[in-house]
Amino acid sequence: MTNSFKQDNLIGESNAFLSVLDHVSQAAPLDKPVLIIGERGTGKELIAKRLHFLSQRWEQPYITLNCAALNENLLESELFGHESGAFTGAGKRHEGRFERAHKGSLFLDELANTSGLVQEKLLRVIEYGEFERVGGARSVRTDVRLICATNEDLPALAERSEFRADLLDRLAFDVITLPPLRERTDDILHLADHFAINMARQLSMSMFPGFTSKAQQALLEFDWPGNVRELKNVVERSVYRHNNDALPVHQIILDPFESPWRPAQRIKTQDRQPAAASATAAAAEVATPTSPASNPAPVLPLDFKDTVQNFEVNLLKQALEESQFNQKRTAEVLGLSYHQLRGILKKYDLL
Ligand SMILES: Nc1ncnc2c1ncn2[C@@H]1O[C@H](COP(=O)(O)OP(=O)(O)O)[C@@H](O)[C@H]1O
Ligand SMILES: [Mg+2]
Repeated sequence: MTNSFKQDNLIGESNAFLSVLDHVSQAAPLDKPVLIIGERGTGKELIAKRLHFLSQRWEQPYITLNCAALNENLLESELFGHESGAFTGAGKRHEGRFERAHKGSLFLDELANTSGLVQEKLLRVIEYGEFERVGGARSVRTDVRLICATNEDLPALAERSEFRADLLDRLAFDVITLPPLRERTDDILHLADHFAINMARQLSMSMFPGFTSKAQQALLEFDWPGNVRELKNVVERSVYRHNNDALPVHQIILDPFESPWRPAQRIKTQDRQPAAASATAAAAEVATPTSPASNPAPVLPLDFKDTVQNFEVNLLKQALEESQFNQKRTAEVLGLSYHQLRGILKKYDLL
């Protein structure tokens, strides 16, 4: 147990990250539920584990379950167990995670989309420390510290009645919110070195030769929508493709699909111009079919600068939306480099 904790050492020295670690140390010893919130890949699982191993329960079981991976019935029986023959296919009595986590901690990941039934049973366990196995009449007592995680805005879900507000109140005794990687750029190069050194070791390279300053710049400028998980992937891929311990890594491969032979994207608008068309012509084509109102035929006289600016802003917004706010893809569909796009977004305060 202690070993697996050590292997997962948390890297980060930014103020935002250090204050999260302080918060974790403060919350860990309390026997109350903790809710961890953060975008995907920000390290929620590592933080949950740390909470357990810093608590008084650290020698007791640490049990985890990803709630999004199971449908309602399976989730209920995984959490609370079932009696033999409780439903078709339910063989012997099955111990649920709550029983297995007795005296220890239970980490429920991706909690947001659990059903009303499961939420009701969770509320009862928290309130009374007991539950019934599926198909059972007898209450089972349990002493479990709950740690939950989500990347959704639970208060907003509760307001729309998509999550039980009373359960949220109980779970949210303390809430630890993890900062996205783009808000703690101080950590990027430390994390990158750590992942690169591990990868070099896996590839049996004699050493990790470092990154060129251009490669470091690329790592620092990307906005990492997939956070630390994405950084880890990108660094490992870049080291592996480079595979040379005499020269520093100079190319950061953000997108493994990038290739001159990549099949052309299928475009929703059938009559879009080929890429060779002038930027303005292609832009006009893109803007017209979906948002005719945003780009009416100009009536003179007009303010040239304002009109052009409005056109650019609308175009950027549309391209961002169609690319699900992935800035790299947005740059691609606009025929801009990533840096050009970032420059323009900054100019219009759209970052
Ligand atoms: N501070 C950190 N130091 C080292 N590795 C980290 C850190 N944060 C996240 N990771 C790594 O990033 C990946 C994603 O972390 P994870 O906890 O699974 O994120 P989440 O559950 O928020 O999606 C894992 O491989 C994890 O080991
Ligand atoms: Mg996760």
